Amino acid sequence: MSVACVVVAGGSGSRFGGLKQFAQLGGDTVTGHSIRAARSVASLVVLVAPQGHTDDTQGADVVVAGGVTRAASVRAGISACGDAEIIVVHDAARPLASPALFAAVVGVIRDGAEACIPGLGITDTVKRIAQSKGEVIVSETIARDELVTVQTPQAFRAETLKRAHASKSDATDDAGLVEALGTRVVVVLGEPSNIKITHPGDIEQAERIAGSVV
Ligand code: CTP
Ligand code: MG
Repeated sequence: MSVACVVVAGGSGSRFGGLKQFAQLGGDTVTGHSIRAARSVASLVVLVAPQGHTDDTQGADVVVAGGVTRAASVRAGISACGDAEIIVVHDAARPLASPALFAAVVGVIRDGAEACIPGLGITDTVKRIAQSKGEVIVSETIARDELVTVQTPQAFRAETLKRAHASKSDATDDAGLVEALGTRVVVVLGEPSNIKITHPGDIEQAERIAGSVV
C-alpha cells in the first residue's frame, strides 16, 4: 500500500512567540527534522506551510498553504496526497518522532486497522475540578490506567481519513474526527522523547533530549 505523509506546519506559533516550525534545532529546522522522519515511511511528503511561506519546501515533495485551523490545514494537505492508500498526519512541531514510531503506526494500518495513533500512559494522578463557593474543589479522581496522552504521527487508511474530514469539523487531532465516525482507533506506545514544541523553552529541551543525535 502506498503511503503519503502530511506534515502540518501551517500554525502561527502564538504560544512560542513566532514560527516555531522554522526554528533551528541541531543543524536543521524543526520542520526539516519532521519531514526527514516522515520520509522513512512515505513515498510522498506533503508540507502544509503558513500562507506566504510556500516557496521553501524544507525537503518535502509538495508544499500547500495551510488554513485557519489545524484541521483545515490537514484538509489542504490531504488534497495533495493523490491516490495514496495510507495517509500519515504529523505535526511539524514534533521534530523528535522517530522513524521507528512512523513505522509502528503504518505497520498497524498495513495489518488491517483503519486508524492508529501513539499514546503515552500518564504517571501523574489526574483529578476533575469544579468551582464551589468561590473556590476550586476536587469533584472526582480519574482512573489514570484508562488515560493516555496522544501524539503524532497518526496513520489512517486514506479513505477513512478523507471521510472523517468531509464533515469539515474541527478537532485537536485527526483521530478525534475518525472516532466521531464510530471507527476503531488502535493505540500503540508513543515516545517520551516525542515532545511538541509549544513554548519558547521547548527548543532547548528538544536539544537536550536529542543530544548529539540531531
Ligand atoms: N497547524 C497548522 N495549521 C493551523 C494550526 C496549526 O498546520 N492553522 C500545525 C502547527 O504548525 C503545528 C501543529 O499543527 O505543527 C500543532 O499545532 P500547535 O502546536 O498548536 O501549533 P500552533 O498552532 O502554531 O501554535 P499555537 O497554538 O501556540 O499558536
Ligand atoms: Mg495551535
